[in-house]
Amino acid sequence: SLNLRNRSLLTVQDYTQREFRYLLDLARDLKRAKYARTEQRHLVDKEICLIFEKTSTRTRCAFEVACHDQGANVTYLDPSGSQIGHKESFKDTARVLGRMYDAIEYRGSSQTGVETLARYAGVPVFNGLTDEYHPTQMLADVLTMREHSDKPLQQIKYAFLGDTRNNMGHSLMIVGCMMGMDVRLCGPKKLWPAEEYVTIARGLEQKYGAKLTITDDVDAAVKDCDFIHTDVWVSMGEPKEVWKERIELLMPYQVNAAMMKKTGNSQTRFMHCLPAFHDTETTLGKQIAETYGITNGLEVTDEVFESEWNIAFEQAENRLHTIKAILVATLGD
Ligand code: CP
Ligand code: NVA
Repeated sequence: SLNLRNRSLLTVQDYTQREFRYLLDLARDLKRAKYARTEQRHLVDKEICLIFEKTSTRTRCAFEVACHDQGANVTYLDPSGSQIGHKESFKDTARVLGRMYDAIEYRGSSQTGVETLARYAGVPVFNGLTDEYHPTQMLADVLTMREHSDKPLQQIKYAFLGDTRNNMGHSLMIVGCMMGMDVRLCGPKKLWPAEEYVTIARGLEQKYGAKLTITDDVDAAVKDCDFIHTDVWVSMGEPKEVWKERIELLMPYQVNAAMMKKTGNSQTRFMHCLPAFHDTETTLGKQIAETYGITNGLEVTDEVFESEWNIAFEQAENRLHTIKAILVATLGD
């Protein structure tokens, strides 16, 4: 049987399809137990360090609540709250924290950084988002698609539209191939994933009988899709200056009501890892409105976001259950 004890989670492809399914089933069981108030605690007195070099709402809160539910304690280090990166290397930080904690979560720019932490900490390290990958998000996304479809995963079709060369584009491309799904990435050629990520995905596509399409043709990408995913057009850490070009390049890939109807599938649902840019309620929203005169959303329109199509909040809740599954599987008694 499967044993994920002491394993890190650094990229999506660290895990096999079978291991991923195991985590999805565990997340489903933990979710049911929490709803039924029968949850058992498997992490009593464990110490978990949460390092956030970039900000977060969902990932941080999911780790904290998962730990509290399971009896573990957390230390939260905010983007300015530790020496890491500024005064102390990943390697040295790893060797310190590994002596105090049972596991470490890291969110920041550097994929090499999180891999260095894992190499030297001697305890499991979980990637809470880097510029390249967002693996914990993938468990929530696949669980949410599984919950909202009557079909087996291998028959589910989904598209990801927009900036397909960011952490979400890479991760959704690779996880779909790993789970044997029909996955379409759609955006302008200039924003397609770099060859190294496509090569990883193509290998998994072969191995698991998946179907991967990378295209700039929206009609072809969304046809028959069960789920339409998108993400912000400018990711954390990118300079403000790229907004102008991104808006020009990506407006044709905006998820709007016309696009949702183009799937030809009345069951299609909308997904987004969040935060989403769909109104002018935020500081950024106000700036975009002032600079570009856009008030009705960027990657998704307010109309789609505030509709029955949207299951992004179910998806957000599943961050909790899936992150808890990772912690229980790798550290649980
Ligand atoms: N989806 C996601 O990772 O959200 P946060 O940035 O709020 O953690
Ligand atoms: N691509 C986004 C994802 C946020 C969860 C970012 O990196 O900002």
